Amino acid sequence: MATRKVLLVGDESLRKKSKPVKDFDEELWQLLDDMKSTMYANDGMGLAAPQVGILRRAIVIDVNNMFVELINPEIIKQEGKDVEKEGCLSVGSFRGRVERPYKITVKAQDRFGYPFTLTGEKWLARCICHEVDHLDGVLFIDKCLDKQQYIKQGGRI
Ligand code: NI
Repeated sequence: MATRKVLLVGDESLRKKSKPVKDFDEELWQLLDDMKSTMYANDGMGLAAPQVGILRRAIVIDVNNMFVELINPEIIKQEGKDVEKEGCLSVGSFRGRVERPYKITVKAQDRFGYPFTLTGEKWLARCICHEVDHLDGVLFIDKCLDKQQYIKQGGRI
């Protein structure tokens, strides 16, 4: 496993829509392994492939000491609302409030292509929503209730 460079806001790769993963091969496994070590090396709760410059629909998360890889994730159900402060390895030290669903169900594939669904509440739901947004070129600062404060501080969009 190797760590990869995390792209920062301003890099146009972060704003592109990622393509579905079609090949569940060694290249994907290497990417996922590298994403895992990159996430842990940076104390992140999640990381999406576009954050390391790969425009494919793959994310890794670690919430409540549960590590999960989600390939081609699709949120198929959401319930309730929850507001908490979020941060992002691609944004830097700014943290701000974002409204997310309280509970979600996501459909995805594992690294071998097998489909599964996962239901999560609170931080697990939030983290999955945040990472899935990355696959569509969306950053939490776009949805942040404290966006004006971020911009006042000179934050980039
Ligand atoms: Ni992020």
